[in-house]
Amino acid sequence: MARIRNVAKKSRYAIEVSNLVKQYGDFKAVKGVSFKVKEGEIFGFLGPNGAGKTTTVHMLTTIIPPTSGVAKVAGHNIYERREDVRSKIGVVFQDPSLDDKLTGAENLNFHAMIYGMDRENRRAMIKEMLEMVELTDKADILIENYSGGMKRRLEIARGLLNKPKVLFLDEPTIGLDAQTRRHILDYILNLNKRYKLTVFITTHYIEEADYLCDRVAIIDHGTIVACDTPEKLKSGLNGDSITITLADKSSASALSKYIRKIKKIRDVKQNEAVLYVYVNDPASALASIMRAAYEERIEVLNIEIHKPSLEDVFIHYTGKGIREAEAEQNDRMRAMVRSRMR
Ligand SMILES: Nc1ncnc2c1ncn2[C@@H]1O[C@H](COP(=O)(O)OP(=O)(O)OP(=O)(O)O)[C@@H](O)[C@H]1O
Ligand SMILES: [Mg+2]
Repeated sequence: MARIRNVAKKSRYAIEVSNLVKQYGDFKAVKGVSFKVKEGEIFGFLGPNGAGKTTTVHMLTTIIPPTSGVAKVAGHNIYERREDVRSKIGVVFQDPSLDDKLTGAENLNFHAMIYGMDRENRRAMIKEMLEMVELTDKADILIENYSGGMKRRLEIARGLLNKPKVLFLDEPTIGLDAQTRRHILDYILNLNKRYKLTVFITTHYIEEADYLCDRVAIIDHGTIVACDTPEKLKSGLNGDSITITLADKSSASALSKYIRKIKKIRDVKQNEAVLYVYVNDPASALASIMRAAYEERIEVLNIEIHKPSLEDVFIHYTGKGIREAEAEQNDRMRAMVRSRMR
């Protein structure tokens, strides 16, 4: 979607990361990521559960030290200049962190006091931020009576009290309904435009990354597998794709063998009973595919043509859809829990 870009013309970087690693015992959660975020840019980390998004955010926000590698945030080294980094950033963590027994305004006030803001400054900033996230009329209500979306908005307001240069948002819309999610995204766009704020956001919602981000890094198993503007990532796939659903995995493998022989088909990827076929001319490819299926007596359950989406980009670089990647991670976690209980 076209929107007014707010990225600094001269390449000044709000975040510079080189070969950042986080290791827990034998396990590398983040395996040497490198990227740069320009001032004023909205930069997204898109990846499934367990990809290493939160671990990266925690390193960049100085919550945990990296095992190796270097990073600068707002011009300061995250390891050597933690206090300077902290004074320049706002953070909205993945896990909710508001005090349920305080009102919205009290939560903000408490946070502003921790930042050492004087009374006048606190009052002015709290008023401005509550207005910005449209919670002025809810300021004196206890958090326990807020909806999920209201809590997230208040957390965003809280992250902005110290007028940060860079705002980190770790899955700010997770668990919210589609309409509330869209609202939150529009606040973020608004903030980015109004305050020229650099935003680093993590998400596992593909549409969200596409809608919001100037550039997206796709992260999988602790590694950045692709990084560019959503448009370039999509056009980089060079062509449309056809998704074919077969009755089972062996039918898909059989059809894949014949499809690969068809001219003008650039690539075929298989995931269980589904084939993703990348082509330049979908209409003529479709006819050839259907002919091959008919001749080989392979039943096709469903077939769809579509323009490349970020989901296709994800599949292209990781070999699977983001939801399947999440299912794999959940299986891994369940296996870990089972082995611990034995
Ligand atoms: N303190 C820790 N000790 C051991 N392993 C950890 C620790 N913290 C995270 N991990 C592991 O590191 C990997 C990356 O975790 P991380 O929380 O960064 O993923 P994520 O991309 O944020 O996932 P999600 O979408 O679920 O939030 C996971 O496999 C996780 O189990
Ligand atoms: Mg996370």
